[in-house]
This record gives sequence, structure tokens and C-alpha cells, in this order.
Amino acid sequence: MSEKIRVLLSEEEVDKKIQEIGEQISKDYAGKQVHLICVLKGGAFFMCELAKRITVPVSLDFMSVSSYGSSTKSSGVIRIVKDLDEPLEGKDVIVVEDIVDSGRTLSYLLEMLADRKPASMRLCTLLDKPDRRVVDVNVDYTCFQIPDEFVVGYGLDYAQKYRNLPYIGIVELD
Ligand code: IMP
Ligand code: MG
Repeated sequence: MSEKIRVLLSEEEVDKKIQEIGEQISKDYAGKQVHLICVLKGGAFFMCELAKRITVPVSLDFMSVSSYGSSTKSSGVIRIVKDLDEPLEGKDVIVVEDIVDSGRTLSYLLEMLADRKPASMRLCTLLDKPDRRVVDVNVDYTCFQIPDEFVVGYGLDYAQKYRNLPYIGIVELD
């Protein structure tokens, strides 16, 4: 069985949108400093591109989580594999995600981070699949809403491959 990748969003489209979201965040946080939290590994490519386009002072931190239970269906209950280096207390936090799918993992994660008492916390995602939502999650910044297709590129993987594609593609098996 071989895979083909069909382009859904080109590199130019993605870059243009990240620029717009970066400008929006810079306006919304004028006079403040933003603390970006990257959820590894998927969010890494997006966070780097976004951070470069934010003009207010930025600090960065990274965390890695894995879900309990079967790997195909996320339960939402997560285990911290790598925690943040810095406390969140008093910071204006933006959690940066690659994709919001069922919303299970993220709603659990956001609740956990809210306990650390940031001054504010927002969510920014590169992609959103609203048709797949099971748990309500409030997304503050979305680059693209996409249909219910399995996508790769810009940090998103299929069996750990394709994260490095500079565009978003749909995996087609034949
Ligand atoms: P959920 O919102 O708890 O269902 O989990 C979302 C996670 O599933 C994301 O952070 C991705 O790691 C993964 N995921 C969901 N949809 C896709 C996709 O289309 N391609 C690659 N990974 C995906
Ligand atoms: Mg993710």
C-alpha cells in the first residue's frame, strides 16, 4: 500500500494566514508580553512561524503529553511526558496547537493549565475540524477550518512522517 499526499493548503496560503494571525495577536496584546506554549511535537512548526510574526515581546515554553488508553481514540485523559520549564502564574498565555479534533485532549490540558493561575489564557490553532468536536473547546485564534480528512504537514504526522512538509496535505491511500 502506498500513500499519496494531495495539497489542501499551499505553503503560500498557510504563510499568509499565519502572518494575519500574528498581526492580530500583536494588536490584541499591545503593551503586554505573550507567553506561547507549544504542545509537542505537532505544534512546533506552527509556533515557530507564528512567534516570528508577533511584534510584542514573546517568551516560549514547551510541553509534551500523551493520552492514556488506546492510541486510535483519544480518551482525553493525558499524562505529562515533558512539563513546562516555567510557572504560568501572572502570565498572558497562548496555547499553540496544530489541530483541534475531538477537543478531548485540549479541554483536559487547558483545565490543567488554568490551575496554574495565568493572568489570561487563550488558544490558537493552525487547523480546526469542527465536524469532529465531541468536547466543547473555545478556540480564540484559528488559521483554517478544514473538513473531516486526515491531514499532514506543518508539524502534523502520519505514523511520524510528513511533519516537515511546508504545506498541509491530505493522505490518500491506494
Ligand atoms: P483530540 O482533539 O483529543 O481528538 O486530539 C487531537 C490530536 O490528534 C492532535 O493534537 C493531533 O495530534 C491528532 N490529530 C487529529 N487529527 C489529525 C490529523 O488530521 N492529522 C494528524 N494528526 C491529527
Ligand atoms: Mg497536537
